Amino acid sequence: MIDIAVLPGDGVGPEVTSEAVQCLQVLSDHRGLGLRFGEHDFGGIAIDRHGEPLPALTLAACREADAILLGAVGGPKWDGASVRPEQGLLRLRKELGLFANLRPAKTLQGLEHISPIRPETTRGADILIVRELTGGIYFGERHCDERQASDLCAYDRDQIERVAHVAFRAARTRRGKLTSVDKANVLATSKLWRQTVTEIAADYPDVTIDHLYVDACAMALILEPRRFDVVLTENLFGDILSDELSALGGSIGLLGSASIGAEGPGLFEPIHGSAPALAGLDTVNPAGTIASTAMMLDQLDFGEWADVLRGALEQTLAEGCRTPDVGGDARCSEFGDQVRRNLCAALRRHDAQRQIISAVHRCCA
Ligand code: IPM
Ligand code: MG
Repeated sequence: MIDIAVLPGDGVGPEVTSEAVQCLQVLSDHRGLGLRFGEHDFGGIAIDRHGEPLPALTLAACREADAILLGAVGGPKWDGASVRPEQGLLRLRKELGLFANLRPAKTLQGLEHISPIRPETTRGADILIVRELTGGIYFGERHCDERQASDLCAYDRDQIERVAHVAFRAARTRRGKLTSVDKANVLATSKLWRQTVTEIAADYPDVTIDHLYVDACAMALILEPRRFDVVLTENLFGDILSDELSALGGSIGLLGSASIGAEGPGLFEPIHGSAPALAGLDTVNPAGTIASTAMMLDQLDFGEWADVLRGALEQTLAEGCRTPDVGGDARCSEFGDQVRRNLCAALRRHDAQRQIISAVHRCCA
């Protein structure tokens, strides 16, 4: 069996993970993948029930799992609390050593009009952000009193090297282009970042590399998204640029992500937040979470079924079944149902093709 730890979390988290798990279940049933799901408290709900956002039982279940599916954490309910739901997420990433966060975004053919950016600018854009996830200002020493506050941003060479290798390897499987993003004209960590990435680039002569300051990158992502292939950057810049990149497809609800480490389970989550205002309304877009489960299937070596799931997801959007964030009126559950219908149809086509191929083989034998 393959154990998937499911952490629905807060706000819209339970709705999006439910749709995604049902998609995985369909694949597992029809293709005998042997996926098994276990739900665990995480985030704000875990603070309410256990007094901490990442209870020991949840962490243990995640460590033992083959992959982790996460919805979202946080909400105004915990704003004044001494411990925030987000701390659970940062700790989980750190505990599991999930240092590389992959956030793909592309313009879907026929759906260019959903983006607020002109179609002639976005058409064909296809970008992968590789965000360093367990270092930088997110994990540096913090100080806060009445008069002063500070957050330390620190990186060491090893942290930069390992995530750079992930990005260069990803670029190799794509269009062979990598843009490293920093603020090396101001920040010491960025100077080290640029130096280290430049050195690593020598190992990948087949990848073209350029360096961009983060402010210039923020502009270029919108003005000329097609110039990018893989974007490698540090933790905070990656957080900001990946939200910005959601303008490409038109909604942050479309984007999924994978967080991976050197070993152990990966963590798969949409890049959007818990959207408390939408919680329980069945209107949130589950596409980003379903896209995250496709990345999970890739990671579990079920790449063939990941592609089939991605196909069903894109087909559903192209057919016009869309939640309100992308201009439609489909409910979250209706959208999920339609993805599963398309998924089943794709699996049937797959079977039919196989039968034809084996019949041809028998004839030729
Ligand atoms: C994300 C989120 C998290 C982050 C928050 C919830 C801590 O914004 O995954 O992008 O900043 O990493
Ligand atoms: Mg974010």
